[in-house]
Amino acid sequence: MQSILITGTNRGIGLEFVRQYADAGWQIIATCRDPVAATELRALAQVQPHIRIERLDLGSPASIDELVGRLGNDLALDVLLHNAALLGPGGPQILGAWQDSAFLDAYRTNALGPALLTQALLPLVEAGSQKKIIFLGSAAGSIGLLQPPANLYAYRASKAALHLIARNLALDLQARKLIVGLVNPGLVDTRGLLDLAADDPGPPDLQHLVRLVRAGVIPLIRSAPSVTGMRTLIDGWTLERSGQFFNYDGQPLPW
Ligand SMILES: NC(=O)c1ccc[n+]([C@@H]2O[C@H](COP(=O)([O-])OP(=O)(O)OC[C@H]3O[C@@H](n4cnc5c(N)ncnc54)[C@H](OP(=O)(O)O)[C@@H]3O)[C@@H](O)[C@H]2O)c1
Repeated sequence: MQSILITGTNRGIGLEFVRQYADAGWQIIATCRDPVAATELRALAQVQPHIRIERLDLGSPASIDELVGRLGNDLALDVLLHNAALLGPGGPQILGAWQDSAFLDAYRTNALGPALLTQALLPLVEAGSQKKIIFLGSAAGSIGLLQPPANLYAYRASKAALHLIARNLALDLQARKLIVGLVNPGLVDTRGLLDLAADDPGPPDLQHLVRLVRAGVIPLIRSAPSVTGMRTLIDGWTLERSGQFFNYDGQPLPW
C-alpha cells in the first residue's frame, strides 16, 4: 500500500486529494489545524479506514515538532504533499496598506512551514518507495507569469519563496534520488461559486469574484478534475523532472 502525508486537508483542494487518494487505496496521513472542526474530513475517515487525521499548524514550528514526534521513526512516506496555504485577506496586501503581519503570516505558513516540515520528514520520505516531495505552488507566485492586477503581495511573494525553496531542494536532494515537484492546481473553485443559482448573489465578501466568474473573466474549474490531473502528474514524476513546475494539466510553467 502506498502512503502519503497531505497538509491542509479539512477543506478545498486538500480534502479532494484525500478523497481521491483514499479511493485509490492509499494510506493517508491527513493533517489539518483543527481536527475537531474538520467535520467533512472526519466523516470521510469513518468510511475510509486508511485515513489517519493529525493536527498540524504550519505557522508553528512547535506544532511541526509535535507532529513529527507523534509519527515516530518507523513510518515510510511515499509522497509528502504540501497543499496547505494561507491566501489571507486582500486588503492588507494592497500597496498603501502593507503591514508586516500579512507578510510574516504568509511566509510562515506558505514557505517556512513547508520547508521545516520537509526537513523534519526527510528520513520518512527516504524510507518510502517513491521518494517524492510535492509542493502546491501558484501561478500567482510565478515572476514569469506576473500580470495585473498587482495585488496579493504577501501571498504571491510567499509562493515565489516556496518555488525557490522547492527548486533548491531538488538540486540538494538529487544525489539522494529524492524527487521534488511543484504544481499549480489551476483556478479552482474552493468557495462553491460554480454552484450558485443564476439569481443567487453569493457570499457578500465575494461579490466581485462572483461577477468576474459569471462574466467568464475568471475561468474557474472544480477541484475534482484539478486533483485528478495533479495525481496523474505526481504518479509520473521522475527524477529527471525534479525541480520543475507544471500546471495541473501537465503544461510546464515558468518560474
Ligand atoms: N484554489 C486556487 O485557485 C489555487 C490556485 C493556485 C494555487 N492554489 C494552492 O493550492 C493549495 C490549496 O488551495 P485551496 O484553494 O484548497 O485553499 P483553501 O480552500 O484556502 O484551503 C487552504 C487549506 O490550508 C489550510 N491552512 C491555512 N493556514 C494553515 C496553517 N497555518 N497550518 C496548516 N494549514 C493551514 C487551511 O486550513 P484552515 O481551514 O484551518 O484555514 C485549509 O485546509 C494552496 O497551496 C494554494 O496556494 C490554489
